[in-house]
Amino acid sequence: MNLPPETTIPQHVAIIMDGNGRWAQKRGQPRTFGHRKGVEALERTVRAATEAGIKYLTLFAFSTENWKRPADEVHDLMHLMRFYLQNKLDELHGNNVRLKIIGDRTAFSSDLLNLFKQAEEKTQNNDAITLQIAVSYSGRWDIRQAVHKLAQQVKDGGLDPAEITEDTIAQALDTAGVPEPDLLIRTSGEQRISNFLLWQLAYSECYFTPTLWPDFDKADLYEAIASYQQRERRFGALPGTAETGK
Ligand code: FPP
Repeated sequence: MNLPPETTIPQHVAIIMDGNGRWAQKRGQPRTFGHRKGVEALERTVRAATEAGIKYLTLFAFSTENWKRPADEVHDLMHLMRFYLQNKLDELHGNNVRLKIIGDRTAFSSDLLNLFKQAEEKTQNNDAITLQIAVSYSGRWDIRQAVHKLAQQVKDGGLDPAEITEDTIAQALDTAGVPEPDLLIRTSGEQRISNFLLWQLAYSECYFTPTLWPDFDKADLYEAIASYQQRERRFGALPGTAETGK
């Protein structure tokens, strides 16, 4: 398996990791088993993405809507997150991975909040790849919290509404400082954005694969990159003039 040419490697790849439940059910196993295998796929993907030269990887691990799942499934997912951060942080740090958590933190227990903080602080100067894990995240939540932040600044007198630009908004999002995804991948055959990075995906190329997330591997990632390399990104401009911008 060859690495696609370096020049057209997407700088930022975002992934909706879907299909854990179906993968487990097909094997007569509980959904949690699928999530556990999903963590292995996540680890494989971080390694493969780093190797491929991707600089930002954003993974949708838990949506705002996922809180509505049965309590034992939510509990298992929280347990997996805790396990991952407690047991894999040294390895991530050793591999020069910068970890960022995005999403609504008000919903988490204090031990998980401490793990998020510890992981971000320990890895903040790493630069092989930035791994953004979206937990209790939704695109509408992110836009709402950004609007709230900017409205507060206007109220406090520090911001003139006339000065609010697209860039001001981007800087108020939880993903501030991270470039917009070049490529969005969704596994399991579903072809929806499902309230993921609504603002940030405006110009991203989308790639949908029937592979269920626990089966996702380096070959699937390379296939997605190869498909991305076939696309002509125009950002609303005419063919051949993509540099003209949005
Ligand atoms: C979607 O599959 C997947 C999720 C809701 C959770 C994804 C989480 C992980 C891969 C592990 C998270 C852990 C860490 C360490 C961040 P689904 O359950 O909706 O599958 P289905 O559509 O087949 O039912």
